[in-house]
Amino acid sequence: MQVVKRGLFIVFEGLDRSGKSTQSKMLASYLENELQVPVKSICFPNRESVSGKTLNQYLQNRDMKYPDEAIHLIFAANRWEMRDQILSDLKSGITLICDRYAFSGVAYSAAKGLDFEWCKNPDRGLVKPDLTFFIDANAETIKSRSDYGSERYERVEFQKKVSESYGKFKQEAEADEHWVTVQADGKSIEEMHSEILDKFIKYRESQSEGCDDLDKL
Ligand code: TYD
Ligand code: MG
Repeated sequence: MQVVKRGLFIVFEGLDRSGKSTQSKMLASYLENELQVPVKSICFPNRESVSGKTLNQYLQNRDMKYPDEAIHLIFAANRWEMRDQILSDLKSGITLICDRYAFSGVAYSAAKGLDFEWCKNPDRGLVKPDLTFFIDANAETIKSRSDYGSERYERVEFQKKVSESYGKFKQEAEADEHWVTVQADGKSIEEMHSEILDKFIKYRESQSEGCDDLDKL
């Protein structure tokens, strides 16, 4: 019987308009087309699910009043809705490229003033990513990007706070092989892509022997 090697769970994190979506698409298409790795792209929030419809409404309508704690739990529920699918994809050998995950949940809610450790709790037990690429872009630099400002959190002052809370993960993860901070300022899309690809390939090589267990957050 042929044993299927599980897929890797790769997450992209960063501020709104930092380039996560572009970089995650570029990595996914390289893996699929050049390395023949079976890949699936997913993103959070998943706006199509039961919880996702509420999140979409909340994000598009700045005037909608709702407690910060409650929306935090709904963002986490949105990930729990996908947990079984994520597990079964990984076990069947599919590499998942995921645009935002639990770190966004914590970074955005902590930026509103909620307690950092409290924010982590609802995500405990979800599948832990193998590799998280944090696209580190300056909030001032990205405000001029197209469409900026259309959703609830897209304001420079708030994004600066989100950046500070991502900074805590960055600090905690300093020597963590599962977290990669990619400096965005002053780099072209192509330069960032090759840096990310390089890190991905090195990680995959380092894990080539026995990385079959999936950890939990
Ligand atoms: P975003 O990735 O910007 O969606 P899209 O690519 O469709 O524009 O996510 C929407 C917003 O939701 C973004 O400002 C970050 C925020 N967010 C949270 O506050 N908590 C979370 O858990 C997640 C996943 C996102
Ligand atoms: Mg956005």
